[in-house]
Amino acid sequence: MANKTLNNVPYVPNCLSEAINNIDSNSSSIMTMPSDDLIRVNKPVDDEIVPIIDYSMLFSNDPEKRSNSLRYLSHVCQDYGFFNLVNHGVSHSVFENVLKGISDFFDPTDVDGRRPYQGKNPTDRIRWGLSSSLEENREHLKVAVHPQFHCPPKPAHFSVALEDYSKRLREVELDLAKAMSRALGFEECYIEKALNLKSGFDVFVTNLYPPNFKSEGSMGLADHTDPGLFVSLIQDVNGGLQVLSHDGKWVDVNMPPSSIFIIFSDHLEILTNGKCKSTVHRVVVGDNKVKRISASTLHGPSLEAFVKPAMEFLDDCHPPGYRGMTYKQYLEATGFHEVDVKSCLQQVLVPNNDKNNCYLVD
Ligand SMILES: [Fe+2]
Repeated sequence: MANKTLNNVPYVPNCLSEAINNIDSNSSSIMTMPSDDLIRVNKPVDDEIVPIIDYSMLFSNDPEKRSNSLRYLSHVCQDYGFFNLVNHGVSHSVFENVLKGISDFFDPTDVDGRRPYQGKNPTDRIRWGLSSSLEENREHLKVAVHPQFHCPPKPAHFSVALEDYSKRLREVELDLAKAMSRALGFEECYIEKALNLKSGFDVFVTNLYPPNFKSEGSMGLADHTDPGLFVSLIQDVNGGLQVLSHDGKWVDVNMPPSSIFIIFSDHLEILTNGKCKSTVHRVVVGDNKVKRISASTLHGPSLEAFVKPAMEFLDDCHPPGYRGMTYKQYLEATGFHEVDVKSCLQQVLVPNNDKNNCYLVD
């Protein structure tokens, strides 16, 4: 992982140090937990830092700050695959409202009221589930929020909050795609055009850990990657989410107040022919003493977008490492429904491709 540290000090450009110091400490009401609990659930897995990207600096009018920020984003895109996004401009009340709506939706006294969303009709755009096994312990809700918005009608304030949240997160998504395009050396609409993000298929996935049911193991959600460009995630408390670094170590994710955690997904890896990897992540529920709500959005290409390694990432040393297909075909390839959004990255890998070795010597 090149340039990760300078003299054992995490590499953070000056403009980002400034941003970290300026994070609003008054907006931490739902993003903190008692320090004893924080220490218990966040026993270090690795001392890897989680990079912080300052959204405002990516679009700064100061050319030097913007250039430094994009250079750091380029490093994060290729060497990490995850980061905390701060100063993104989404009001903290937008987060509070959607988390409150989710909390009320997962009313422990009305689990049976949610069972109608458990159906397996392929046309369903709202899916609910309750899992309790060694591999998975969570109650979850998955809804398609773009191009068409869906949400359970009750509680009414949840639908209003989720629609507002989804609109704001789409603005962040499109801007971040522009910045990532620039960071990778292309015109700012490069990723947006390649994946037809204007018609992107976005699925909102919210989880309650541990579920409103007896938990049976230490895993909330087993190791996986997600389809799409990237996942944006907020949560009510820190604790449990872990990402796998490029050098194979699990990293505890601790989010600064009001930040958005970004996890790169399969279709960025496919588009860039493996240059920007999809990040493996998981949720550990441990002894189940910490209740946590996560709210993530899987920002995907258009269902009709045919995604394959782009020619800009191909040469003699980097042949296509992935088979192309439409996003809809990808989502359906594992036999799951589109809204169930399972990864099938292993299925589209081209066998005996040596591109990974090539990137190691870049
Ligand atoms: Fe995920």
